[in-house]
Amino acid sequence: MVELLEFPKILDPRGNLTFLQYADQIPFEMKRIFWTYDVPGGEIRGGHAYKNQHEVIIALSGSFDVVITHPDNSIQKFQLNRSYYGLYVPAMVWRHMENFSTNAVGLHLSSSEYNESDYIRSFDQFASLKK
Ligand code: TYD
Repeated sequence: MVELLEFPKILDPRGNLTFLQYADQIPFEMKRIFWTYDVPGGEIRGGHAYKNQHEVIIALSGSFDVVITHPDNSIQKFQLNRSYYGLYVPAMVWRHMENFSTNAVGLHLSSSEYNESDYIRSFDQFASLKK
């Protein structure tokens, strides 16, 4: 299930600190990290599902929305705008990111190495696999 995770916050007058480690804060061992940045206003990233990999998405800086589209076309929108929140997205969930603010940095923690064959890039195929 898609779930908003709240990470520990160490508030400090010198600047705040947040951390996460497997398995206390995220439910899988990380194999890969990637991030998006310099996303032009109005752009959309990541319209696809993964067959097997799980991920946690964090707005490390700025903000953006993660939009989950269910097989019946209903949507769920999560606005990420604090670096101490992460959105857990399990496998077989169709998601895209939109509404990026200037200087938004989107960090993705993934359970797998990069593998193009793990992507489902057709929504119709995704919806029929979920039936
Ligand atoms: P992709 O995940 O398809 O991004 P989006 O869904 O936002 O379009 O990644 C874009 C390209 O970057 C893809 O064609 C392959 C490359 N890529 C890697 O080589 N390694 C990675 O870990 C990722 C995430 C992407």
